[in-house]
Amino acid sequence: MRLIDLRSDTVTHPTPAMRRAMADADVGDDVFGDDPTVNALEERAAALLGKEAGLFVTSGSQGNLVSLMGHLARGQEAIAALESHIVNDEAAGHAVVVGASVRTLRSAPDGTMDLDEIAESFRDPSDPHEPITGLVAIENTHAHSCGQPLTAAYTRAVADVAHEHGVPLHVDGARFWNAVVALGVDPKDLAGPADSVTFCLSKGLACPIGSVVVGSRDFIWRARRARKLLGGGMRQVGVLAAAGLIALSDGPDGTIARLAEDHANARRLAEGLAGLDGVVSPGGIAQPTPGRLDPDRAVTDFVVFRVQRDRAAFLAALEARGVLMVAYPHGTIRAVTHYGIDAADVDATVAAVREALAETTVEAATSGSARV
Ligand SMILES: Cc1ncc(COP(=O)(O)O)c(C=O)c1O
Repeated sequence: MRLIDLRSDTVTHPTPAMRRAMADADVGDDVFGDDPTVNALEERAAALLGKEAGLFVTSGSQGNLVSLMGHLARGQEAIAALESHIVNDEAAGHAVVVGASVRTLRSAPDGTMDLDEIAESFRDPSDPHEPITGLVAIENTHAHSCGQPLTAAYTRAVADVAHEHGVPLHVDGARFWNAVVALGVDPKDLAGPADSVTFCLSKGLACPIGSVVVGSRDFIWRARRARKLLGGGMRQVGVLAAAGLIALSDGPDGTIARLAEDHANARRLAEGLAGLDGVVSPGGIAQPTPGRLDPDRAVTDFVVFRVQRDRAAFLAALEARGVLMVAYPHGTIRAVTHYGIDAADVDATVAAVREALAETTVEAATSGSARV
């Protein structure tokens, strides 16, 4: 049975063009700056986002961590969203490695933090009791709001608040390119207001590994030192960067433009699921309106919903039918579309969900924790 794996866009396999480029890549020792393929990837990424320099890192988490290390001094504080990956899903690297605290703010269903609340969250640097605010970080797309893309105008507004207080803005753009495609904006406009952006190659762009951090030359130098400190200095790593260059290429092998297919498939999936009894709104910032799942929430590659069933039993019944989804916070379920998933897979998924709902009866839900 062929698996339809919708757990994440990280499950993608490299494209044939990527595999060829990886096999043929020119390489050198990247810690000496000698790897031409890595250098080309870093330059390409920086040019696309309108920044001075780039840095190839192992993962999105490492990209965020070296960015925090590049921006923050020990004892400083970042302002970030309560549900953001930096706060929740990076093993408290900000605290453990950087020695920084985070002041967390709630996000709205459109993925934004309130600008006034951001402004009010800056500490008083003249008060010796308080940490010193050193960074604002936003996440684009914003995962927990069902992957909402944050606009260039919002990014500019947050950057203005940060800069008025003399601190930089970092964008955790793990799915930056999904935002670019969903909004139809120039990546330079979306990245322009930020002082640093991390984007992942290994998610929707379908590369096997890696992320790129971009920013000013000075900042990238500090991030490069931080990467070395973390043991992230890699050697003949052009074999991996080659896949990234393919992803970011303009021609038919590039994987940015095709993200539109993932978004259309997510929308198709949300529409199919919305029609099923037993599938309901995930609630919270993923979808504040109760009742049926609202397909309008699926604007990028995420679909987040709840089932009026025992969640674990439902996911197991789905898996038995060859469809994988993942348990998401607050009793919800997430499905993510990606390279390798087509419209027929989406339709097969909707059929499998219908069957899994029928198998896991409402009565079974009385013992579960995922009911609405
Ligand atoms: C919003 C966000 N930021 C950062 C990351 C970290 O990426 P990685 O898994 O490559 O460390 C992820 C991974 O899922 C993510 O969703």
